[in-house]
Amino acid sequence: MRAREVRKAFFEYFREKQHTFVAPSPVVPRNDPTLLFINAGMNQFKNIFMGEENPLFPRAVNSQLCIRVSGKHNDLEEVGADTHHLTSFEMLGNWSFGDYGKKESISWAWELLTETFKLNKKNLYATVFETDDEAFSLWQQVTDISHEHILRCGKKDNFWEMAQTGPCGPCSEIHLDRGPEACDFVGDTEGHECRVNGDCARYIELWNLVFIQFDCQKDGQLKELPHLHVDTGLGLERLAAVMQNTLSVYETDLFWPIIQKIESLSNVSYDPGPDGMPHRVLADHVRTLVMAISDHVMPSNEGRGYVLRRILRRAARYGNKMGLTGKPILYQLVPDTIDIMKAYQPDIVKRKSFVQEVIKAEETAFMDTLDSGLERFECIAKEMLEKGKAVIPGTDAFKLYDTYGFPLDLTQILATERGLEVDSDGFEKCMIVQKKRSRKDTAIQQSESSASVSKGKDTMAPVRQDGDSPDSTDTCILAEFRGAPGGGEARMPETETDRLQIARHHTVTHLLQAALRQVLGDHVNQAGSLVDTDHLRFDFSHFKTLTSEEKNKIDKLI
Ligand code: SER
Repeated sequence: MRAREVRKAFFEYFREKQHTFVAPSPVVPRNDPTLLFINAGMNQFKNIFMGEENPLFPRAVNSQLCIRVSGKHNDLEEVGADTHHLTSFEMLGNWSFGDYGKKESISWAWELLTETFKLNKKNLYATVFETDDEAFSLWQQVTDISHEHILRCGKKDNFWEMAQTGPCGPCSEIHLDRGPEACDFVGDTEGHECRVNGDCARYIELWNLVFIQFDCQKDGQLKELPHLHVDTGLGLERLAAVMQNTLSVYETDLFWPIIQKIESLSNVSYDPGPDGMPHRVLADHVRTLVMAISDHVMPSNEGRGYVLRRILRRAARYGNKMGLTGKPILYQLVPDTIDIMKAYQPDIVKRKSFVQEVIKAEETAFMDTLDSGLERFECIAKEMLEKGKAVIPGTDAFKLYDTYGFPLDLTQILATERGLEVDSDGFEKCMIVQKKRSRKDTAIQQSESSASVSKGKDTMAPVRQDGDSPDSTDTCILAEFRGAPGGGEARMPETETDRLQIARHHTVTHLLQAALRQVLGDHVNQAGSLVDTDHLRFDFSHFKTLTSEEKNKIDKLI
């Protein structure tokens, strides 16, 4: 069964049970400062669960791409090392907004898995929260699961929380035993036991049924919600692997074409074991990059942009490891990725060339420093090993970050491979010092910049193209237009003439933003601005410096 058929069968099953289909939300949460990326299908329903919004219908079904690389849910380190963790995955979900409860969700999940998808009942296990007697007995009463396969587990595995605060509740998970051949435990097998929630890939979680009952407060207290809601998440990639008779999500039709493309670009065949890690990292990471960039997240040095940058650099380093030294590869995987993911989100087709350009620019910029950074790392590691030291000082890790653009976790991966550790506290200290310094520099730069503005010479000047700081590989260029903007800082007018001048400059901000979007693309958003009597400044991000032709077009349009 192809992945798109699995998705369709899920939707159809729940449509028959009066669930309304809801489109996926973009991977960037709207108005939710507790999250960098959508990390669960329930994010878009959070306000309904909290009683802050009324649902339009009592039941819903959907599929949501979830990115789990930061905050409470972070799988980044596992990705590529095994064959079932991903930085982003598609979560199929059915939802009850204060409508049905535990009984229906358990019996429907069981029916769908065992009758529609025909999974072998003998291989399925159900876990419930240790004190949830109701869920425990429902599994016994409304399904024919073997009673020994119903297990009680603690908070770590069976109490689901979206973030540090917000909706949460006990959950019941369905796990699949994929047989002894799926065990991938490395190391001393004495004492290792394959088991549900264990440390190998034999048993994997397929579906999580969450019973949202509480709103977790800042101090950790659980406030009971007026209604119980149901939030379920079934991993499409994992179920597709089961339906396609493979132990690896990378060997399903959701990833295999990308793996094949990597093989042909690198001339290195895929290895399903540990040696296939670079292929898996590249295939996984390009998909997350494509989906996030097409939702207008740009690689940068902050927040979600920095998460993307880390992902891209981790991938580039694995590309380098498989012999693709100095050759950007990720951007060449974009068309295959879009071809697969258009079944999930048809709109991404329109953004193909934009996404490709962003990835290519970012990748190329990083390539320039990757080799010298790796050389520098080797020198540091050699010195540590020669001196019998086990920890790379924070100052060295910071130098790798600051000069070669190595995110801390990249240095940590390299260090682990050599049996070394990194002093991350020392790294953080250097970071704080640098931030303070750069704030001071910015203040000086700004006063210099307003001085030059008043001379009113250029119509545009890039403000961040400095030497060999991480920003030297920053493809997200903050550009500054001088002329007339709106929405950001504005000087208080002292006279009627001032007021009119400021109003004119404000109007032109809107013209400028519209022209930028028309010429460069709709990813252009205002990042800051200044409106004054004699000039305006408008900050926005774009992945490369503007050409004279683009600037002329923008001028003409305005
Ligand atoms: N919210 C739960 C999860 O993310 C089920 O959808 O696992």
